Amino acid sequence: MPYKESTLYFCKNIPRRNAPTMISMSINVPQLYDIIIVKISLFYKFSTYQPFLISIKKDACEIIRNPPQFGVEKHVFDIVQQTVPELLTPCPSGNRTYTIDWYLQDSHAPRHIPAGDYKLQFKLIVHSNITIFGMEVYGSVRNTGIVSTFMTE
Ligand SMILES: *[C@@H]1O[C@H](CO)[C@@H](O)[C@H](O)[C@H]1NC(C)=O
Ligand SMILES: *[C@@H]1O[C@H](CO)[C@@H](O)[C@H](O)[C@H]1NC(C)=O
Repeated sequence: MPYKESTLYFCKNIPRRNAPTMISMSINVPQLYDIIIVKISLFYKFSTYQPFLISIKKDACEIIRNPPQFGVEKHVFDIVQQTVPELLTPCPSGNRTYTIDWYLQDSHAPRHIPAGDYKLQFKLIVHSNITIFGMEVYGSVRNTGIVSTFMTE
C-alpha cells in the first residue's frame, strides 16, 4: 500500500475463539480489467521460509474461463470457489467494491501437509506491474488444525 489503481478501505484480522482468524477487507477497484495476473505462493518455514507446494502466476481471467481440472491449481481454485465465489465472475472485472470475509478452514489444507509454520503470498497485478491488492498470510498447521494470522503488504 498505497495502491495506484485501487483503494483499500480496510483490511483487518478478526481473531476468533476456537476458530481460525478471519480476514475482513473492503477494497474499491474503479477500473475494469481483461487481464489480471494472480500470484499465489506458499512457503514453509524450515529455518527460513522456503517455496513449498504452491507457486502460481497466471491470468485470473483465463483461469475463470477455463478452470483447472487437476493438481494444485484445481485445489486452489476450489478453495476460492468455496470461500469467495464473487471473485470468479467472468472478466472484465472491477468497477466495484469487493467486501470480503475470508479464512482458511482445516478441510482446505492438503492431506498429510507437514505441521509447522507457513506463509501464503497473494497478489493481483495489472498492466504488468501495478498491484491492485497484495497480502501475506502467516499460518501454523498443528495437529489440531489451522491457526492463522496475517499482515498486508
Ligand atoms: C460501472 O458500474 C456502474 C454501477 O454499477 C455502472 O452503471 C457502469 O456502467 C459501470 N461502468 C462500466 C464501464 O462498466
Ligand atoms: C511499469 O510498466 C510500464 C509499462 O510497461 C513502464 O513504463 C514502467 O516503467 C514500469 N514501472 C515500474 C516501476 O517497473
